[in-house]
Amino acid sequence: MTDAGGARLNVVVGITGGIAAYKAVGVARALVLAGHDVQVIATEHALRFVGRPTLEAISRNPVHTDLYEGVAEVRHVAIGQAADVVVIAPATANTLAKLAAGIADDLLGNTVLATKAPVLVAPAMHTEMWANPATVANVALLRERGVRVVGPASGRLTGEDSGPGRMAEPDEIVAAALAAVRPQDLAGRRIVVTAGGTREPLDPVRFLGNRSSGRQGVALAEAARDRGAQVTLLAAHLEVPVPAGVTVVTVETTAQLGAALGVAAVTADTVVMAAAVADYRPAEVAEQKLKKDALGADVTLSLVRNPDLLRALTAGELAAERPAGQVVVGFAAETEDDPDELLRLAREKAARKGVDFLVLNRVGWTEGFGTPRNTVRIVDRAGSIVGEAAGDKVSVAHRILDVLV
Ligand code: CTP
Repeated sequence: MTDAGGARLNVVVGITGGIAAYKAVGVARALVLAGHDVQVIATEHALRFVGRPTLEAISRNPVHTDLYEGVAEVRHVAIGQAADVVVIAPATANTLAKLAAGIADDLLGNTVLATKAPVLVAPAMHTEMWANPATVANVALLRERGVRVVGPASGRLTGEDSGPGRMAEPDEIVAAALAAVRPQDLAGRRIVVTAGGTREPLDPVRFLGNRSSGRQGVALAEAARDRGAQVTLLAAHLEVPVPAGVTVVTVETTAQLGAALGVAAVTADTVVMAAAVADYRPAEVAEQKLKKDALGADVTLSLVRNPDLLRALTAGELAAERPAGQVVVGFAAETEDDPDELLRLAREKAARKGVDFLVLNRVGWTEGFGTPRNTVRIVDRAGSIVGEAAGDKVSVAHRILDVLV
C-alpha cells in the first residue's frame, strides 16, 4: 500500500554482488523493525557474499533470485508492480551499468523495469570504479531518470585503500527510502525538536532525572526529516540512536537545553518540545562525590526551580527573538486517570504555556516512557481537540505533523 503517514510499505531490497552485501542485512532489518514488508531480491553474485538463510530470517520472507521461479504468478513483474519503493543496496558498478542500459537478464533487472515506484541505489565499489567515466555517465543517466542515489560515503574500503566508494550506512539508506515515498509537505521548513530528558547533577556521579527515553521526540525528528524538513534535534540522554540526516545537539541539563534552544529556535518555523525537562536542580552541585559518612542517615536536598523553557519561548526571555508565525508545540505528560480531568489539565497547560498546540499523553509506571507505542490527543491554543493518534511512535509522529501542516 502507498504510504501517507506511518503505514506499512512494500519495500523491495535488491542486493547485488559486492562485499557491502553484508551491510544490506542491516537495511532489511531496519525496514522490518520499522514495520514494513521486505521482499529481498538477491542476485546470484550477492548470495556469494551473504547467505540466503540470513536474508530470509531477517526479511521474514522468501528470498527471490531466479527469473524462472514463480513463473505462473508472473513474478518477474509482480514484485515490481506491488512495490512502494525499490532499494538496491549495494549497487555495484556492474548493476548501475545494467540499470542505465535497461538490461533485464535477471529478476532484479526485470523488477526495476516493471516498477512505477521510486528506485534508490546505494552504490558501493572501489574509488577507481566509482570515478570511471563509464560509471559517472551511468549514474548521471540514472539520476536524470529519477533514480535516487544514496552515497557512496568516503572511507575505508575492502582492502588497504580508502576513498569514495563505501556504501552509505544502513540507517541513511532506510531514511532515504522512506523519504522517497512520503509527501514532501515540510520541504524547506526548519523544525527544532527537543527529545529525551534533562538531568541535573548532584555530584560527579549522581543526577536527578526522569524516565523519558526520547523515542517520541526522535520519531518526530525522523518523520519531519522524511517529509522534507530541515531538522535540528536537541537531544538530552536518548535511549535510542540519533537519526541520520538531522543536526543533533547533545545537552545534559535544563540550562544547556535552554541555551541550545535559544540558538536553534531563532531560525525555526516550528519548535516541538517533546523533551521531559527537569523542573528543579540541586541548589548546589558537589565538586566531589558526596559521602554517606558526611551526609548522615537522612538527607534533605535543597532544589531550585529551573526556568520554564517553553514559557520562555512564547512569553519570556526568548520571545523577543521569536520569528513571526513560528509554531510552538508543547507536550504534557500526565498521570491523571480521569479522561475529562486529563483534558482539563491539558487545556489549562496549553493556555499557561502559550503554545499553539499541546500534545497530551498519559504516562505511568508502565505507560508512555520507554515504550514503542503512544496514545495522544492534540489540543490547540483555544483548547479544542484537533487530533488524536494511537500506535507506534512513528505513526503518532506523522499524525502530529499532519495537524501542524
Ligand atoms: N517544559 C519546559 N521547561 C520546563 C518544564 C517543561 O520547556 N522547565 C516543557 C516540556 O518540554 C513540555 C511542556 O513544557 O513540552 C510540559 O511539560 P510538563 O512537565 O508536562 O509541564 P510542567 O510545566 O513541568 O508542569 P507540571 O509538571 O507541573 O505539570
